[in-house]
Amino acid sequence: MRILVTGITGYVGAALAPRLLAAGHEVVGYARDPSRVTLDVPVVAGDAVAGTGLDEAFDGARVAYYLIHSMEPGDQGFDVRDRAAAQNFAAAAQRAGVERVVYLGGLVPPDRAASLHLRSRLEVEETVIAATPASVALRASVVVGPRSRSFRFLVRLVERLRLLPLPAWRDFRTQPIDGRDVLAFLVAAATSPAAAGKSLDIAGPDVLTYGEVVERIAEHLLVGRAPVRLPFNATPLASRVAATIAGEDHALIGPLMESLEGDLLPRDMRAPELLGVRLHTFDAAVERALRDMEQLGEPLVAR
Ligand SMILES: NC(=O)c1ccc[n+]([C@@H]2O[C@H](COP(=O)([O-])OP(=O)(O)OC[C@H]3O[C@@H](n4cnc5c(N)ncnc54)[C@H](OP(=O)(O)O)[C@@H]3O)[C@@H](O)[C@H]2O)c1
Repeated sequence: MRILVTGITGYVGAALAPRLLAAGHEVVGYARDPSRVTLDVPVVAGDAVAGTGLDEAFDGARVAYYLIHSMEPGDQGFDVRDRAAAQNFAAAAQRAGVERVVYLGGLVPPDRAASLHLRSRLEVEETVIAATPASVALRASVVVGPRSRSFRFLVRLVERLRLLPLPAWRDFRTQPIDGRDVLAFLVAAATSPAAAGKSLDIAGPDVLTYGEVVERIAEHLLVGRAPVRLPFNATPLASRVAATIAGEDHALIGPLMESLEGDLLPRDMRAPELLGVRLHTFDAAVERALRDMEQLGEPLVAR
């Protein structure tokens, strides 16, 4: 089956495409700069915010993955760019008569107002899955993988700080998920009859506080970092300082840290059985992701 992978230069898209090939599918990519795609598949050039190249990319595709996310600095906010990209993608999907769209976005808190970032991810979900009734939305918390920017941010922060300042949000809970499990869910979602038309939360098996997530990463990095428990959040300032220390764009880290101010847990855990995915533990996920970072030529302090 011919499958369109948008966001094929990103962490999830680049890792997903070879797995789809291995599962016997034909893959076509869509990227702003096709020369950045290392996999030997056809890639259509286009910019989803501008709406270019999408009709060509959809040509002959029966399933399309929406893995585009615009967290780069720019004149417009990420929410404005992501809205335009999702609307252009959904319109092209409808014109092409694609059978199924598969989307990966973020968990949504049921009991409090979501941050701008999570609201935007939800709006994108609603826009792209409306393109066709059999579409599937998957929602995840932090994805633990070597190229996942949220995970890499935590790794670099822990490496570079001597003490671990843990703001008041340290006691909220979440369920990070192994990148390998995310890919297994995504591959299954392309064809699973049981998943058609569903929005599913996908989460790792371990319920951890954000403080525990950071402390466990420090343990896997083999660095001793004394935690300093702060009685406040001060997210606007803290996110700027943290982004600078970790060498990341504040355009990404600011919106991500605003989402930490409450539990971020799945609505239920029915996705693994529905899609036939066995989950890795958090420790297995971190160990594997760190090893993959080292193998990609990124030495880690103390390992
Ligand atoms: N990583 C996580 O921890 C995590 C957690 C939960 C959910 N998710 C979800 O997973 C999905 C994929 O995330 P990711 O981690 O793979 O993100 P990523 O590495 O930042 O990749 C984003 C992709 O979007 C592409 N893109 C951005 N603007 C575009 C545009 N105007 N036109 C065409 N392509 C454009 C980028 O292309 P360029 O290479 O040209 O910039 C890149 O390929 C997102 O929906 C995200 O919300 C990720």
